[in-house]
Amino acid sequence: MVEPSPDTRPSQTDLQTSQERYLAYRQAHHEERLATRRRILRWAIRVGTGAFSLALLLPALALRSLTREVQEVTAGDLLVYATGDKAGLPVDVAAIDPAMAVQAFPEGKSGNERNLIEIVRLAADLPTGLVAYSAICTHLGCTVLPRLSEQGYIVCPCHASVFDPAADARVVSGPANRPLPALPIEVSSDGVLRAAGGFEGPVGPA
Ligand code: FES
Repeated sequence: MVEPSPDTRPSQTDLQTSQERYLAYRQAHHEERLATRRRILRWAIRVGTGAFSLALLLPALALRSLTREVQEVTAGDLLVYATGDKAGLPVDVAAIDPAMAVQAFPEGKSGNERNLIEIVRLAADLPTGLVAYSAICTHLGCTVLPRLSEQGYIVCPCHASVFDPAADARVVSGPANRPLPALPIEVSSDGVLRAAGGFEGPVGPA
């Protein structure tokens, strides 16, 4: 057996250095593992917090959208233009000439399309010369035109149902078989138009 020569054997100093390096490596490895665990834990907390927030948020959003959908026109609602340059502004009664129609929403309730209202000026007299109906056709629920026909009728463009605004929106010709429900309205002394109640019948196809 060949003995290593004395000058090739590791010295005590070499052994100590080697051991220190090994301990340093283990320490570094241990710290790296701890850091990885902390990262995973932080990620899991974030994911958990996000899921928890979402679980709280979703029912609130659903409730909010449900609340919006069921907002119906009621007495006292200010009527505002539904479309055009004046959309959102109060309906100006003086700007509606006889034989003219405009469409409106109750202010703040345009999210519910079934609140769309057809306002018709039948005559100059106020408030009797002014009537309002649902603008949702009772056949299949299309929106009626925002103007009157030459004969002074309300017309649905989908399947040509015709309603007479001067006769409680009765059906002049089908396929609709039910009048447009009326909306009671009131005009204040300064010409502001408000709903005086809800629709007097089911809106759209019944
Ligand atoms: Fe109006 Fe059919 S939806 S006529």
